[in-house]
Amino acid sequence: MKDAVIHWISGPVMRATVNRPFKINEAVLVGEKKLLGEVVRLHNDEITVQMYEDASGLRPGDPVAGEGNPLSVRLGPGILGNIFDGLLRSLDGEGRDFLYPGQELPEPPVFNFKPLVEVGQIIKGGDPFGQVRTRPKPAKTQPCLVPPDKGGEVISIKERGDYTDIETICTLSSSSGEEQELAMSHDWPVRTPRPVAERLSIGPPLLTGQRILDCLFPTARGGKAMVPGGFGTGKTVLLETVAKWCNADVIIYLGCGERGNEMAGVLDEFPHLEDPVTKRPLMERMVVIANTSNMPVAAREASIYTGVTVAEYFRDQGLHVALMADSTSRWAEALREVSGRLGELPGEAGYPAYLSTRLAEFYERASRVRTLSDKGGSLTIIGAVSPPSSDFSEPVTIHTKRYVRNFWALDRKRAQARFYPAIDPLISYSEDAADLAKWWQKQGAPNWDEHRRRFLTILEEQTRLERMARILGKDSLPPKQQLVLMLADLVNEAFLRQSAFSEKDRFASPKKQTKMMSMLDGFMDMAQKAVEAGVGVEDITALPEVRRLQRMGEEISEDEMESFDQLHSALTTAFSGLLSNVQEGDGV
Ligand SMILES: Nc1ncnc2c1ncn2[C@@H]1O[C@H](COP(=O)(O)OP(=O)(O)O)[C@@H](O)[C@H]1O
Ligand SMILES: [Mg+2]
Repeated sequence: MKDAVIHWISGPVMRATVNRPFKINEAVLVGEKKLLGEVVRLHNDEITVQMYEDASGLRPGDPVAGEGNPLSVRLGPGILGNIFDGLLRSLDGEGRDFLYPGQELPEPPVFNFKPLVEVGQIIKGGDPFGQVRTRPKPAKTQPCLVPPDKGGEVISIKERGDYTDIETICTLSSSSGEEQELAMSHDWPVRTPRPVAERLSIGPPLLTGQRILDCLFPTARGGKAMVPGGFGTGKTVLLETVAKWCNADVIIYLGCGERGNEMAGVLDEFPHLEDPVTKRPLMERMVVIANTSNMPVAAREASIYTGVTVAEYFRDQGLHVALMADSTSRWAEALREVSGRLGELPGEAGYPAYLSTRLAEFYERASRVRTLSDKGGSLTIIGAVSPPSSDFSEPVTIHTKRYVRNFWALDRKRAQARFYPAIDPLISYSEDAADLAKWWQKQGAPNWDEHRRRFLTILEEQTRLERMARILGKDSLPPKQQLVLMLADLVNEAFLRQSAFSEKDRFASPKKQTKMMSMLDGFMDMAQKAVEAGVGVEDITALPEVRRLQRMGEEISEDEMESFDQLHSALTTAFSGLLSNVQEGDGV
């Protein structure tokens, strides 16, 4: 007898009459083609199913088969370095097309396995029972973890050799005597966070090499940040830049329903990028999950859970993982569309009332942890949000803001002026900065926090003074205030502006960043003293050294740190010159 029979279909949602009990969130296979779906509602003898594959061929009367398990993904050694759809099915085939509905999974991959435990040993969930060589030269391995919900005494384990990632290579006997079979891969339900031994407070910074992020609005490993910005303000470029340069061990890049051609850019570009640290392909430590808007809407809705589950899997290996989601607004739109099909009561802007809960559940999975096998790991989440017409008061922006600690707002005006990254320093913020100041102190930058506050204060003042200048005219401002305007320009031009495409400046090490901060701080002190002594602001602006200061990011590369000290000496000399000029003037 069929488990259930379809009687109603509306786009990606269908209802079926059941002949046996189903569970909520149970995965189902629908129709002759065995299309994947998930039970989202139970009502008497009826289930409502959201389809993850194109349901256009389905008809009333078609069978529905229950899988018994919630929607899960297969986590194993075949993931790293590859490109998948939102349900973690490989897109690496010919033409990178997504799988056609109901397509059988390809042959399971084969890996060289080496056991790490012996018969009789007791192992628990999260422990590595073997390792897999994922690359021969230079050798690279990945641990095979006991799934978090398993563990016991090792009854048998295969010798070193080649096996597929789904065959049983180890058997355990649990404390209750139940036999468990382990393979290199295991299934995990995407909507269930993977357990850890302990959640820790946030850790050292996730360094990005981008000055405005690392120095003004830093995020910690295990932290969560959002990047709201209208169309074309640079969200994708910023996320890609962070993916390329940040100091995470593994990057999960989730392209969530942006236009198909944009995702094609990511798919074309990433496989050719070089890892700036290892000089090997960056893809070797990346996973790309691509869900363009031409894929079924419900698969898009599932993809952020797939992405975060994969990220947790690597975190559980004791690694630092960064997940970039571009864009969570497309995910929220998928949620809205499915909710509409389910006939749910729409809330703000048509989004379902549970939008906020879902966002909370997603960002909550960012964490710094002690893993089940007692290792340190972290998962940092960075989500782009694309509010329609840059309106930051729309629901996805508002609700996401409640759950993240760092807010990197992209500003249309800055982007239009081609000032990149177009992060607005006045409305952006970081709740991690105070904690991270200690880290910078330990790196030999005791003044990091003080410099950071000084820059932010000057930028704040700039807005106020510019408003006054518009009313009164710039020349009527007292010299001290004119100086603040000049210094604010300098912070913007010399420090915050940083092209993702400049060979020398696209990445700045912590050392270069702190050198630049100190340079500017020293300049500000000298300039303030000079103005107090009667030097005109225009004379300071006219100094050729100020030109050099403005371009120091572009002109001084990582291996020329001594140039900063030379520039500092040049500035000191130039200021002495200005000061002696005014003193001579006084004498006359
Ligand atoms: N950091 C940057 N450096 C240089 N150019 C940038 C930068 N960020 C954005 N741009 C320019 O802006 C364009 C649009 O950026 P994109 O990231 O695609 O916007 P969004 O994803 O917000 O729609 C890019 O194609 C690029 O030309
Ligand atoms: Mg984009």
